[in-house]
Amino acid sequence: MHAQSQNNLSAPAKTTVSREGGLEAIETASRDEIAAVQLERMQQTLRRAYENSPFYRAHFDKNGVHPDDLKSLEDLARFPFTVKQDLRDNYPFAMFSVPRNRLARVHASSGTTGKPTVVGYTLKDIDTWAQVVARSIYASGGRPGDMVHCAYGYGLFTGGLGAHYGAEKLGCTVVPVSGGMTERQVTLINDFKPEIIMITPSYMLSVLDGFRNAGLDPREASIKVGIFGAEPWTNSMRQEIEDAFDMDAVDIYGLSEVMGPGVANECVETKDGLHIWEDHFYPEIIDPETGEVLPDGEKGELVFTSLTKEAFPIIRYRTRDLTRLLPGTARSMRRMEKVTGRSDDMMIVRGVNIFPTQIEEQLLKCAGLSPHYQIELTREGRMDTMTILVESTEDAAGEGARQGSAKELASHVKSTLGVTAKVDVRVPGDVERSAGKARRVVDLRKKD
Ligand code: DLL
Repeated sequence: MHAQSQNNLSAPAKTTVSREGGLEAIETASRDEIAAVQLERMQQTLRRAYENSPFYRAHFDKNGVHPDDLKSLEDLARFPFTVKQDLRDNYPFAMFSVPRNRLARVHASSGTTGKPTVVGYTLKDIDTWAQVVARSIYASGGRPGDMVHCAYGYGLFTGGLGAHYGAEKLGCTVVPVSGGMTERQVTLINDFKPEIIMITPSYMLSVLDGFRNAGLDPREASIKVGIFGAEPWTNSMRQEIEDAFDMDAVDIYGLSEVMGPGVANECVETKDGLHIWEDHFYPEIIDPETGEVLPDGEKGELVFTSLTKEAFPIIRYRTRDLTRLLPGTARSMRRMEKVTGRSDDMMIVRGVNIFPTQIEEQLLKCAGLSPHYQIELTREGRMDTMTILVESTEDAAGEGARQGSAKELASHVKSTLGVTAKVDVRVPGDVERSAGKARRVVDLRKKD
């Protein structure tokens, strides 16, 4: 072993990615080049899944398709979808394409009912994941040497460790705080002075409260960029957070079944939707009713096929997230519009379809209301009732002011969404806080 001198240690971050002028070559490649990479990788992925995963072999055989049938990217539409239930049915490891002892790591998402869904990674998968997260942080404006305060939860959830490895890969200094203990988050941000924060947008609002409670001015905080994801959030919320902290807020998207955070990310210079890292994840938009593939620009359910994963290749996974595909802008890879809802989160109130983000949009228009909110659904007789629980701001916390804000919000909701909602404006601190993904809907309706 050679002792390295201080000077040798100052080499830039170790990375297997070559960044010409800061970007990887593929990020600005032509559409033809991207399509060629995709086709080759898709053929390999289908073959790997068919040959190594008993689940996919049976799934393809049953649907009368074989990896050799894929001659063009469009041929993917001939292959069957994969859904969350497939992961549940194959719990814990039966969908994997490598023997268990080749897994470097597993993650799992907490099933609301029953068993969690388990996903796995080889060491190479972990490296690929770190690369796409590094690319995402770079697109967000992060640079080697920046300090990243990582407040996504560490553990079975992919947020914390996924963000962490990507930040290290880019050459950042990571502070692995995880979620929770809001006062400590504030202290560490104030003392360490990170340039970047990675956190859910709803938890960022709790950190904002923490700053105010500690008597600190959030606009004086060191943070330049926040990389927010793991839950839907609106452009109005972006504005709210950017103003409060005097920072840029960008959107990061991902899901454990496909990889974790870093499937798509916004570019800070455009903030016009999330570039999908299409050399690793192939997107389709389908009509959720018929399963038919829709052209770019049309809204539907997002479906992903992994192109480079070894342990857990995933073919045509139905995400339940609703969005549309748009052409590239800051990068040549296509964008997906900000996800404003999952089909699972859609509330049907008196025959009207509503997503929590539509309520968020309306309440952020009311000056006397804070962005903390939750929606309660109850059934009185045969009628569904939606109650919006929301907090007032500090300076509109008096009884009269709160009643005024309640009326204002109810009227916005009625005129834009066409439903009558009850609004319960509470004093600051009275609506449930999250340290990760916020629970926006509490469904108290009895199922008959
Ligand atoms: O939430 C991975 C992640 C961690 C993404 C940290 C971004 C940041 P899951 O727990 O498997 O994985 O949940 C995935 O969360 O299908 C969406 O419904 C939702 N979601 C994730 N990112 C966004 C986003 C992680 N930026 C599910 N906007 C997805 C809207 C998002 N929804």
